[in-house]
Amino acid sequence: MVDVDADGYFGQDVAATYDETSAEMFAAGVVDPVVDFLVRLAGRGRALELGIGTGRIALPLARRGVPVHGIDLSRAMVDRLRAKPGGDGIGVTIGDFATTRVDGTFSLAYLVFNTVMNLTSQEAQVDCFRNAAAHLAPGGCFVVEVTVPELRKLPPGAHAVPFGISPTRWAFDLYDVATQAMSSNYVDVVDGRGSYRSIPFRYVWPAELDLMARLAGLRLRERWAGWSGEAFTGESRRHVSVWEKPAADGG
Ligand SMILES: C[S@@+](CC[C@H](N)C(=O)[O-])C[C@H]1O[C@@H](n2cnc3c(N)ncnc32)[C@H](O)[C@@H]1O
Repeated sequence: MVDVDADGYFGQDVAATYDETSAEMFAAGVVDPVVDFLVRLAGRGRALELGIGTGRIALPLARRGVPVHGIDLSRAMVDRLRAKPGGDGIGVTIGDFATTRVDGTFSLAYLVFNTVMNLTSQEAQVDCFRNAAAHLAPGGCFVVEVTVPELRKLPPGAHAVPFGISPTRWAFDLYDVATQAMSSNYVDVVDGRGSYRSIPFRYVWPAELDLMARLAGLRLRERWAGWSGEAFTGESRRHVSVWEKPAADGG
């Protein structure tokens, strides 16, 4: 198992290689549509990134003129952000984004790259929506990008879905459909010996997120299958959802 310390599952080892191992997520073709989407929603206000990490989205968003603040558990990840050009200009609060409060209000809060699933209980995910909503000005938006649970890949009676099998890596997700607990598991084989790490998640359906949003006083405004306005359908493998905090007059 991964050692979990104060940095959660994003300790020094993960932080040191995060940008490299997630290189395809840093490509301009991936990042630019995300930033365009968030710039539109932020308007003239400030943006709050939950799980800011090494600044994959926050840095280019700040370069577009949106003041960004982040929350993250991992000092190791935030140190990497700080070391990048522009990283010093972004305020970060170390803490759990389900409960940590930051001063001021924001026109936009966002939580991308499946990170809502890092909260492993329904209670924590509900708290996260409440926390995001508490930071929003009336009319502000909370945006979540997350995969649609891939339970269609699970044959009846099975609870494991392989997603990366090679001579040197066996990677598989484990599902508990009773609790919505899941984990991504990796066995890496070096010189004939395997090392194992496991990262826990809680998968969550779009409709359940809508209910969490409602509990937090937000309402669904947009749902897309991607950042470029792709239609969300029964075949979509992820969604980008936008919930809005009603304006002060309720409109
Ligand atoms: C997959 S990375 C995403 C980083 C960045 N948003 C991106 O898109 O590249 C997840 C980040 O969320 C942070 N994180 C996970 N759970 C958290 C929690 N409960 N509270 C605060 N940060 C958390 C991790 O430390 C990590 O930096």
